[in-house]
Amino acid sequence: MVSFPSLQHALIFILLGGLGALALDKYTAAVYEHAVILAETTEKPVSPEDALKLMNQNMDVLEDAIQKAAKQGAHIIVTPEDGIYGFFFTRETMYPYLEDIPDPQVNWIPCTDPKRFGPAPVQERLSCLARDNSIYVVANIGDKKPCNDTDPKCPSDGRYQYNTNVVFDSDGKLVARYHKFNLFMEEHQFDSPKEPELVTFDTAFGKFGLFTCFDILFHDPAVALVTQLSVDTILFPTAWMNVLPHLTAIEFHSAWAMAMQVNLLAANTHRLSRNMTGSGIYTPSGSQAYHYDAESENGHLLVAEICSRRSCSPTYLPAINWSLYATTIEQFPETHTFPGIVFHDEFTLSNLTKEAGNLTVCQKTLCCHLSYRMTDQREDELYVLGAFDGFHVAEGDYYLQICTLLKCGSTDPQSCGQSTTTARSHFDFFSLSGTFSTNYVFPEVLLSGIHLAPGGFQVLSDGRLISQNGTSQALLTVTLFGRWYEKDSPPMHIHSITL
Ligand SMILES: *[C@@H]1O[C@H](CO)[C@@H](O)[C@H](O)[C@H]1NC(C)=O
Ligand SMILES: *[C@@H]1O[C@H](CO)[C@@H](O)[C@H](O)[C@H]1NC(C)=O
Ligand SMILES: *[C@@H]1O[C@H](CO)[C@@H](O)[C@H](O)[C@H]1NC(C)=O
Ligand SMILES: *[C@@H]1O[C@H](CO)[C@@H](O)[C@H](O)[C@H]1NC(C)=O
Ligand SMILES: *[C@@H]1O[C@H](CO)[C@@H](O)[C@H](O)[C@H]1NC(C)=O
Ligand SMILES: *[C@@H]1O[C@H](CO)[C@@H](O)[C@H](O)[C@H]1NC(C)=O
Repeated sequence: MVSFPSLQHALIFILLGGLGALALDKYTAAVYEHAVILAETTEKPVSPEDALKLMNQNMDVLEDAIQKAAKQGAHIIVTPEDGIYGFFFTRETMYPYLEDIPDPQVNWIPCTDPKRFGPAPVQERLSCLARDNSIYVVANIGDKKPCNDTDPKCPSDGRYQYNTNVVFDSDGKLVARYHKFNLFMEEHQFDSPKEPELVTFDTAFGKFGLFTCFDILFHDPAVALVTQLSVDTILFPTAWMNVLPHLTAIEFHSAWAMAMQVNLLAANTHRLSRNMTGSGIYTPSGSQAYHYDAESENGHLLVAEICSRRSCSPTYLPAINWSLYATTIEQFPETHTFPGIVFHDEFTLSNLTKEAGNLTVCQKTLCCHLSYRMTDQREDELYVLGAFDGFHVAEGDYYLQICTLLKCGSTDPQSCGQSTTTARSHFDFFSLSGTFSTNYVFPEVLLSGIHLAPGGFQVLSDGRLISQNGTSQALLTVTLFGRWYEKDSPPMHIHSITL
């Protein structure tokens, strides 16, 4: 006679064995940069029917991208923040676009059971797109949750409105819901959840986590997902406004993936009038595919095969100590310095006066060391080494430590830090390092014309950002962008709220 428990044991064994066999070393990822169609009016509330009509127009475009991605074998596709309803809303005019999005634990396939939680036409359509094309679909929509006087934080209009990422698996089941925690300044139409949510889900092609846009600049939930929950891939819908020289989308997002040693699938909204462009499929080795288009008004699909586990990346480093090299060498001679404003922050700058050299620039506790060799020093271009150690207070409030090699706008020292998109000077060697107080430092290399340099530079485990052989195009900037999270005010706590 076979006893029940041992039969169960056998079943569990077979199931686990089966999963092991199905687990994939690689998978195909897709991101879609979508030129969102905006509502005609965001000042007066529209009817739910008109709201749905606009959202369906955007989903028609997303449907085409999802079908194309699936045809190319993609397992998952990420679409942008605000990609279905756009922006410029007030709380009130946002409301007709919102749906009640249940906790994924309810085990729901909206495509086959659309009315289970009241009307949810957007979730139904996204679920069907995932199911019909056998692909995971990641989208950003709005969630509404009623509240009342029993909750002292309940807004006066009696509801919470959340900027929300949803994920439907390849059967159309809702498997993840994430409420954006770090809202950007102008997002008055939304509320922050009381605590940052650490949302993850498992697949045969790795463990996934998700967050949204401005979240990437903060510790929670972004860093916690990687360091505490060990996700392999981050799903990242964004509506990112590019800011030169250090915060263009492709530059910062690829650097984040490299420093955190994680895959990052970044889908940006495409809207040039708001400086929104730049999406990519980034890995610990750098960019596998990226898109930046400051010319056309078109959307764009990226598809690339990447490692399922972050540890299988060829350049995976278990730990980088970002200050190790800089704190153990002799400081190079300090040269004449001057102040310069970069995105509202006052940096300490020093000219690169020679064709090759070693120099150090310090501000407060941060000293930045640069060794470099230029192939030709042009008379009409000025490069500086800069250091910044302090609070950044424009469009957000967060503590930075930055070391940067920067091309100035012109040969006028006043122009250093102004946005400039082209350069002609080539470096055949550089090595940048800094005495960082934080171990969260994002290595950026941006080339003339707003290009990334995959394979053109390396990060060493002692914290040096180096290029032995130079980059394919002239340099706009080489930067170690450090975030000292503990110094942020109010202090961020470590939370462990898991779905
Ligand atoms: C108030 O909100 C709580 C929590 O959402 C809910 O359980 C309760 O039924 C609500 N009360 C009223 C009167 O709506
Ligand atoms: C877009 O970028 C340009 C150049 O950096 C800047 O002058 C302009 O103000 C930006 N536009 C917006 C909407 O931020
Ligand atoms: C990095 O190296 C420095 C110098 O050896 C050391 O003081 C520091 O504790 C190390 N940091 C980490 C995070 O291991
Ligand atoms: C920079 O320093 C290195 C040793 O740290 C030395 O080999 C090199 O010659 C120096 N370069 C210049 C141009 O001074
Ligand atoms: C830096 O270089 C610029 C352009 O050559 C020059 O105008 C300026 O005086 C230099 N500054 C210092 C401090 O050497
Ligand atoms: C640099 O170029 C040399 C000669 O072409 C080559 O041997 C070396 O591997 C290259 N180094 C890197 C880091 O790409």
